[in-house]
Amino acid sequence: MSSDRRLELRVGIAGIVEFRAKKENESMGTEEQIKTAEAKFGDLIRAELARIETMKEDSEIKDFSKLDHIKIGILPGDGIGPIIMEQALRVVNELLKDEIASGKVEIHIIEGMTIERRSELNESLPADVMEECKKCDVLVKGPFVTPRPGDPWPNLLSANSLLRRGLNLFAAVRPIKMPDRNIDWTFFRENIEGEYILGNKGIEVNEDLAIDFKVLTKPGAERIARAAFEFARKNGKKHVTVVTKANIVKLVDGNFVKTVHRIGEEEYPDIIVDDKLVDATAAKMLDPEFNKDMEVVVLPNLYGDIVTDVAAEHQGGLGTASSSNIGNKYALFEAIHGTAPYLMSHGRGHYANPCSLIRAMGEMMAHIGYADRKAILDKALDITTVTEKKIVLTTETKDASTAEFTDYLIDTIKGLEG
Ligand code: IPM
Ligand code: MN
Repeated sequence: MSSDRRLELRVGIAGIVEFRAKKENESMGTEEQIKTAEAKFGDLIRAELARIETMKEDSEIKDFSKLDHIKIGILPGDGIGPIIMEQALRVVNELLKDEIASGKVEIHIIEGMTIERRSELNESLPADVMEECKKCDVLVKGPFVTPRPGDPWPNLLSANSLLRRGLNLFAAVRPIKMPDRNIDWTFFRENIEGEYILGNKGIEVNEDLAIDFKVLTKPGAERIARAAFEFARKNGKKHVTVVTKANIVKLVDGNFVKTVHRIGEEEYPDIIVDDKLVDATAAKMLDPEFNKDMEVVVLPNLYGDIVTDVAAEHQGGLGTASSSNIGNKYALFEAIHGTAPYLMSHGRGHYANPCSLIRAMGEMMAHIGYADRKAILDKALDITTVTEKKIVLTTETKDASTAEFTDYLIDTIKGLEG
């Protein structure tokens, strides 16, 4: 057997395609390599220009107060996902019991989005699942496995990214609160463009040169800027802080900053725009001098990914945060932790903490017009996890199970509902 063939057998089918393409590239002369890269680049530009046109069509914002029927789609996810989702649904069934009984609100479980099925189909986001998602008004999802090299799954793309892109969920809204430090931040992370949109479409010109792309479109920057300003105005916030590395990434970050300033001046003159650099923000976010005017923070995709993890960690860990992915037509709410393979493999899945997903349910209820229920839930979470703490969840089997904690939370909610 040739050494090429031996290598092909080792890397599997996906690897073979990539490997053959690479071999082909290496046998080309430099000029031919450049031409191939130029052609690929041209295709990427064409696809992005076409996407801009579809973005312009998605400008109508869904008004939930005008709907007679709201369909909530549920994607339980992998690992601890189905376990914590079962409990999170008990909480929603309690808080929205009247609306569910009257048929105003419908909860619909979307099947078929498991890593086993996705691997079998070799599809990160199967078409039937996407179709079901599009029939819902809002979605709540548990964590999905995103395979990494060395995992027993095919190298699937991130289903999260595909859902965000497919449903045009352009804003990741991530609240962070640390009352003892007087911190109440709401991050508006651009959720589709930046390094993500062409994340798997970089160009490997030859063995020595790989190029990835970072993308910003004008409508993409404008819609995230407006989302941040609208939130600031509705919530009585005076400052919007834009965080980038515009001193280095001149065009994409530079245009992002300019757009935020322009939209601010033209449409929200009552709100002050502050600029910060992303490295300083990550390092100094807890410094009271540095953060004194930080309220609403708007930032490009990858910086938003990193900075919100840092902020969530300061708040008490990734498990304490939730994330809302908002578009004009759809919205998707999720916990920001993963599938917890460690807990699952140690038989402790039923001791997982469901709070992050339950908080995501709270954000979902507020989004569809039931902010009063979110307020009850927030109060009940405060009682059960901070002030009263009659039973505790540590993920250790000697402490409360996911279901026992949820019993306690639901009893507390019933007490508050009166
Ligand atoms: C997040 C996650 C995702 C991201 C992954 C799972 C694709 O880290 O929601 O922050 O990078 O956006
Ligand atoms: Mn992240």
